[in-house]
Amino acid sequence: GLPERVTIYEVGPRDGLQNEQALVPVAVKAELVQRLVAAGLPVVEATSFVHPRWVPQLADAEELMTILGEAGRRHPVLVPNERGLDRALALGLQHVAIFGSATETFAQKNLNRTLETQLAMFEPTVRRARDAGMDVRAYVSMCFGDPWEGPVDPRQVVDVGRRLLDLGASQLSLGDTIGVGTAGQVTALVQAFRDAGVDEGRLAMHFHDTYGQALTNTHAALRAGITTFDASAGGLGGCPYAKSATGNLATEDLVWMLTGLGIEHGVDLGALVATSTWLAGELGRPSPSAVVRALA
Ligand code: HMG
Ligand code: MG
Repeated sequence: GLPERVTIYEVGPRDGLQNEQALVPVAVKAELVQRLVAAGLPVVEATSFVHPRWVPQLADAEELMTILGEAGRRHPVLVPNERGLDRALALGLQHVAIFGSATETFAQKNLNRTLETQLAMFEPTVRRARDAGMDVRAYVSMCFGDPWEGPVDPRQVVDVGRRLLDLGASQLSLGDTIGVGTAGQVTALVQAFRDAGVDEGRLAMHFHDTYGQALTNTHAALRAGITTFDASAGGLGGCPYAKSATGNLATEDLVWMLTGLGIEHGVDLGALVATSTWLAGELGRPSPSAVVRALA
């Protein structure tokens, strides 16, 4: 059977905007976060505290979180290392997310670390975050395929994922960073985690829609018992360090399917479509989401 309700973890302000060519004004980012919250999204990842030279699009992270103020403290932010954590701590934030790679090449490209040394970077980051009472989410990237290494062995994903959970992460988000995964692989990966003693309740799925498989993969994950899904308003997104990565699963597309299945999500689709339409105007091009285009 399918779950009765799911949690949508909105990544548009972070995964969506990190890949934009043009710099988006901080006031637009703040309005985006606020409108997503108003549309009923229970979790909105706001930005990243990464090196500003690596992701100039999000170099205004402090400014954004300052504008969001007290209400902004509950928004998760990406932190790769202790320096990023210090920046989040200075603002009193409560949720951080680390992001590891399942492959050697992407660990190098995205974090300037090896598969092993990325974990050495995360260990003190997670320990100090937990000591400060923060909740820590962990992403694993390249869970199905990698542009440099090809198909990825589920055992490799489970190994990195388990180690991130062992460091103290509460939830693991399994990323199909370049959107090449298909439904059978999703079912197999969830099973591989179960076989390794990781309950599906601790897993989230993070699909990119490069090959148009994101909703089919979501359906397979729902059947496998997954109840947290990452999505990006309007289908924006991609990783600047993963060639061939395109947009995330659009939150509107996800909401449309969940509503049809009778699965509760708490999101006001009209308010969300209006938000993505407004953002598309700010960015100067139409949303890639089929549902946004159909409803706008
Ligand atoms: P590095 O060059 O190895 O950094 O980069 P370092 O540790 O050698 O430090 C060099 C200098 O940078 C030092 O300054 C640090 O203080 C400073 P110096 O002492 O020379 O003056 N520094 C920082 N400054 C500000 N904030 C920081 C920070 N860290 C170091 N956090 C590093 C290593 C991890 C920093 C770099 O590789 C980086 O920032 N990478 C981020 C890449 C990124 O954001 N990618 C996109 C997000 S991941 C993604 O999109 C996938 C996901 O969506 C899931 C999926 O789809 O699969 C999550
Ligand atoms: Mg992503």
